[in-house]
Amino acid sequence: MTARPVPEDLLTANGLRRAFVDFFVANGHHHEASGSLLPHDPTLLFTVAGMVPFKPYFVGEQPAPWPRAVTVQKCLRAGGKHNDLDEVGRTLRHLTFFEMMGNFSFGDYFKSEACAFAWEFVTDHLGLDPERLWVTVHVSDAEAEAIWRDEVGVPAERIQRLDEDNYWRMADTGPCGPCSEIFWDKGPDFGDDGGPAHGGDERFIEIWNLVFMQFEQHEGGSMTPLPAPSIDTGAGLERILSVLGGVDSVWETDEFTRLLARIGEISGVSHGSDDRTDVSQRILADHARSSTFLISDGAFPSNEDRGYVLRRIVRRAIRHAWLLGVEDQIMPQLVDSVVEIMGPDYPELVRNHAFIRDVLDREELRFRETLRVGLSILDDALDDLADGERLTGDVAFKLHDTYGFPLELTEEITAERSVEVDLDGFRTAMADQQQRARSARKDVAASAVAEDLRAVLEA
Ligand code: SER
Repeated sequence: MTARPVPEDLLTANGLRRAFVDFFVANGHHHEASGSLLPHDPTLLFTVAGMVPFKPYFVGEQPAPWPRAVTVQKCLRAGGKHNDLDEVGRTLRHLTFFEMMGNFSFGDYFKSEACAFAWEFVTDHLGLDPERLWVTVHVSDAEAEAIWRDEVGVPAERIQRLDEDNYWRMADTGPCGPCSEIFWDKGPDFGDDGGPAHGGDERFIEIWNLVFMQFEQHEGGSMTPLPAPSIDTGAGLERILSVLGGVDSVWETDEFTRLLARIGEISGVSHGSDDRTDVSQRILADHARSSTFLISDGAFPSNEDRGYVLRRIVRRAIRHAWLLGVEDQIMPQLVDSVVEIMGPDYPELVRNHAFIRDVLDREELRFRETLRVGLSILDDALDDLADGERLTGDVAFKLHDTYGFPLELTEEITAERSVEVDLDGFRTAMADQQQRARSARKDVAASAVAEDLRAVLEA
C-alpha cells in the first residue's frame, strides 16, 4: 500500500495531527490553535476551511502576526456554498465536521516552496508511495505544472490540468486563487484508470489542496489582486488517515471506529452488518461530532441561521437513531463519547462537556416528544399519495410548525420514497401563518390600547 510501513503513531488522528504540526514548525511555521467553528464573518455560516480565521491577513485588513503558520482547524460544511450535509453517511468520505490540516504563507513563500513542503511531508514523513500519487493544476497554471515536473520530479504523465475543480473560493466574496491538488490512487479495484481528471472518484482520493491565493473576489463580480501572493493549504485529516491505514473509508479510521462501536453498543446493531443501518450509524457519528463541537463553540439550536442548521443536524441524527430502533435518548451519551475520544486534543470540549450535554439533552427530549406522532402523520400522508403526487405543503408545514420537523428532514424522508414536497405550498402555508400571527398581535395590541384608554377614562 505504501513505500514503507506507516509508523504506528501516524495511524491515529492524534499522531497525525502532531506529525503535521511538528513538520511545519520545524520548517519555520508558527503553530496556532484551531479557531472557532463560528467565524466573525458575515459572508460565512461556519468555518469551512483552515484559511477562514486568516482571511484578514490574506486580504490585507490586518498585518499577519507571523509570515507562516500551521493549524489543525475544526471545519463544518453544512450550509451555504460548501455544504456536504446530504452526502454524509452515504459516501465513503463526506463529513459535516472534519479537521483540516494546513500550512499558510502570508506573502512569504509561494508555489515552489509550498509544493516542495507538501511532497516532502507526504512521501518522506507519511511514507506514501510517490508512484501512486497524482497531481492536478489549474488549466491556466503552466508555472505550477513546471514546478511539479522539473523541481519536485513528478512524471509529466501524472500531472493533469483541471478547470473549475482547481480554482478555490472561500465564499461568493473573499480571497481566492488557482489551486493544485495531490491525489492518492487506491488502485484498479476501486475504479477506472485515467488519473483524477478521467478516472473513478472512489479510486483517486484528493488528500492535499494547495491554493495559490492571489485575488480577492468582491460583490458584483470584480476581482483585485491580494497585497501579496500567499499560500493556503488544506489536507483533510480523516481522508489522509484512511489512506495511511489502507482502509476504504473515513468511517474505518481510529476515532470513528470508536464512536461507531459505541453507537453499535447503544443500538444493539453493529456497524458493517447492513447497508441501511450503516448509513444511519454514520450519520449519527458525524452529527454527534458536529453538534458537540458547534455547541462548544457557542451555537445554540434555534429556528434561524446557524442555530437552525444545528437544530437540523441534531433532529436528523435523532431520526436516524429512531430508525436504528433506539427509543431512549442517545445524544447525551454520544457527547460523552466524542468528549472522551477528542477531548485530549480539544480541551474546550472537556471544559464545556456538561453544558453541551445539557443543551443536547433538552433538544432531544423536546423533539422526541413529537417525533413519533409526526412520523406517523407523515407515513399516513405518504401512503395516501397516488403515484407521482407530491406531499402537500400543508402537511409539510404542519410537521414543521407543530412537530418540529425541519423542512429538509421532511424532504429527506419523502425522498426515501421518491416523493417530492410541494415547496410553494409550504411557503404559502408559512406566509398564511405569519399573517395570522401578525393580525393576532395587532388584535392584542388593539385590545391593550383599549384597556389603557378605559383605565385612563375610568381614573
Ligand atoms: N481552502 C482550501 C480548501 O479548503 C485549502 O485549504 O480546500
